[in-house]
Amino acid sequence: MNFNEQTLTDAAVARLDGCTDPRLREIMSSLIRHLHAFVRDVELTESEWFEAIKFLTETGHRCDDKRQEFILLSDTLGVSMLVDAINHRNPSGTTDTTVFGPYFVAGAPELPHWGHIAEGLPGTPCYVSGTVRDTNGQAISGAIIDLWQTDGVEGLYDVQVAGDTMFGRGRVRTDAQGRYAFRTVKPISYTIPADGPVGRMLRMMGRHPWRPAHVHTMLQCEGYRSITTHLFVKGDPWLKSDAVFGVKDSLVVDFVDRPAGPAPDGSLSEVAFCEAHYDFVMARA
Ligand code: BEZ
Ligand code: FE
Repeated sequence: MNFNEQTLTDAAVARLDGCTDPRLREIMSSLIRHLHAFVRDVELTESEWFEAIKFLTETGHRCDDKRQEFILLSDTLGVSMLVDAINHRNPSGTTDTTVFGPYFVAGAPELPHWGHIAEGLPGTPCYVSGTVRDTNGQAISGAIIDLWQTDGVEGLYDVQVAGDTMFGRGRVRTDAQGRYAFRTVKPISYTIPADGPVGRMLRMMGRHPWRPAHVHTMLQCEGYRSITTHLFVKGDPWLKSDAVFGVKDSLVVDFVDRPAGPAPDGSLSEVAFCEAHYDFVMARA
């Protein structure tokens, strides 16, 4: 009883005395202390408090099986990348990780060497290849790489387009020499969904919703730590201000423009294309 500005925080934390889960207790007491410190720091007004409640309510209402506005909120506030950094302090020399994002769909088809993940999609034809190795430089064969990206003209994922057609997705497997190769269309920069409360928040903060062009990759192989990351397109204007803080120098790849002619898969391309090369390094589990 009689709690005041000075005593309320300790009192709220003390209510965890009956909590038997030590990790939950650690998390909730820290959360309460940080929330209270924040309210004190900005001296939150009652109307600002109510705006925050309305914002969070609207954020919840914008979530469904296709859209996750809370993840978008976490991404745009840098929380997702902080969780990623804390959870992937991998040995040096391994491929850097980055944000998972909301557009992964399980069940993409496994494709042969030089298989096409974006057959028929508009955009510049693109050939991507490289190797997967361990930290000693040994080839890893049988690693599965999940790939997903937008089309090359509108910058939309399949799940953002009406209908159930899967596009811009596939899985490739490394061969005995640890090599992988796939065809796609050159990814382009796109905006994260900005028509909801998170988009409004970004505008009010003077921020833009753009992500630099990238291909999502997720590598899995038994005995190795999985890697979820992107290959970003060198030269993209949004690399330095990615709306979700996902860019790392080591993930920026030269997508080299080539004229029509012999293509990396041994075929003859009748149109200009681009070519990218990237070598992944996985750590033992
Ligand atoms: C993405 O790259 O797909 C993504 C990541 C975070 C928020 C929205 C989209
Ligand atoms: Fe993406």
